[in-house]
Amino acid sequence: MHQLIIYGAPGVGKGTQAELIAIKLNLEHISTGAILRKSAEEGNELGLLAKEIMDRGDLVTDDIMNGIVKDSLKKINKDGFILDGYPRTLAQAEALSEIFTELGFKDIKVINLIADENEIITRLLKRGRSDDNKETIANRFKVYVESTSPVKEFFAKQNIIKDINGVGEIEDINKIILEAIK
Ligand code: AP5
Ligand code: MG
Repeated sequence: MHQLIIYGAPGVGKGTQAELIAIKLNLEHISTGAILRKSAEEGNELGLLAKEIMDRGDLVTDDIMNGIVKDSLKKINKDGFILDGYPRTLAQAEALSEIFTELGFKDIKVINLIADENEIITRLLKRGRSDDNKETIANRFKVYVESTSPVKEFFAKQNIIKDINGVGEIEDINKIILEAIK
């Protein structure tokens, strides 16, 4: 069973790569950003709360996110999962470790997708999601550096994270990832 996490800066290509991997390996693609955006579209309680936070580029609380991910992981009925956009804080990484233990997932692999900040900003401005404006992108990067980078160290200490160059053709990057997780 594939137990994957894709980690990296906003706009580095996590969603693009996770979707391809999920199709090729028959995995559940668990994108916390996508779950929140769907809730926002539906206008439910979570969505209303999340929309404002996402439009600022801040983070939704750890408790809410941990609950969402735990529920999703309990329901896996494919050949595994790929987590995209979670964990995003050290507290989320610690909570996830407990969830993995509880659910018996022991063979976790983390992909660290890397691209230069200027390349990413160009990509995001071109895409134009509601959080893809200059001000929000700047805050998403600030939050990434301040709150999310400790997650990389957390995985590095366990020796389960692999760096992958996220610049180039999408399919080429995908092949490299698939090779790296074999
Ligand atoms: P989330 O949806 O996770 O956004 P993000 O991390 O900012 O990342 P993006 O989805 O923008 O980028 P990506 O890395 O997926 O790249 P993509 O493939 O789209 O989170 C959004 C918000 O939700 C957060 O700010 C927060 O508020 C909240 N949230 C989510 N998870 C949370 C959590 N765990 N805790 C708390 N809050 C949470 O690619 C980007 C663009 O580049 C696309 O247009 C794509 O087509 C293009 N592209 C991709 N690959 C390439 C390539 N190789 N070459 C050229 N272009 C490329
Ligand atoms: Mg994404």
